[in-house]
Amino acid sequence: MTTILQLDSSASGPDSVTNGLNALLVDTIAADATIVYRDLTGLPALSNDLLVANNTPAADRTPAQNQAATLADAIISEVEAADIVVIGSPIYNFGVPSGVKAWMDLVARAGRTFSYSDTGPVGHLTDKKAYIVSASGGVALNSEADFGTPHLRTFLGFLGITNVTVIDAGGLMMDPDKVQKAQDQIRELAPV
Ligand SMILES: Cc1cc2nc3c(=O)[nH]c(=O)nc-3n(C[C@H](O)[C@H](O)[C@H](O)COP(=O)(O)O)c2cc1C
Repeated sequence: MTTILQLDSSASGPDSVTNGLNALLVDTIAADATIVYRDLTGLPALSNDLLVANNTPAADRTPAQNQAATLADAIISEVEAADIVVIGSPIYNFGVPSGVKAWMDLVARAGRTFSYSDTGPVGHLTDKKAYIVSASGGVALNSEADFGTPHLRTFLGFLGITNVTVIDAGGLMMDPDKVQKAQDQIRELAPV
């Protein structure tokens, strides 16, 4: 059975465009799938304790480090178990929301989700599909002021997830039909 990991990151809760599009996308493709949901708002920013715990092998951790690494362990396991990752990531101040950045900081664990070879980095999360569902007020996605979707796409590629589709709800203030267009883009997706 296919497992879909649905990640919301908007601070706007029920009023969020990306949360709504994420839900529609998962409903559209999830014919016979297990859905795992996580709200990324409120994830802790990286601290020294968290970073050290995250990079210490489980067998070598102190009890306090084990506790600190619990969240990262869970987040990494969720991505590893997913076949499809759906990430709602609106443009906040030209980049990704802080929850998405915190998620990236927890997921990137050397030796687990990526490693380095003689020829460069090797992502370990292969054979997955990702959707980035993004919305913005004025910044067009993929324009030179969009540091959000390219950042997330590059990060996913670093981990080995290169099959990425962007659902584009960018520039909502300029195009009153943009949410509808993003919904149309989603409704064309095939169920899994
Ligand atoms: C904190 C914050 C920062 C934002 N920064 C930008 C920005 O830099 N560029 C832009 O085009 N829109 C910006 N916006 C507008 C949002 O991208 C837009 O409202 C989008 O719909 C948010 O997605 P959501 O509805 O899922 O929360 C910002 C909104 C918020 C709340």
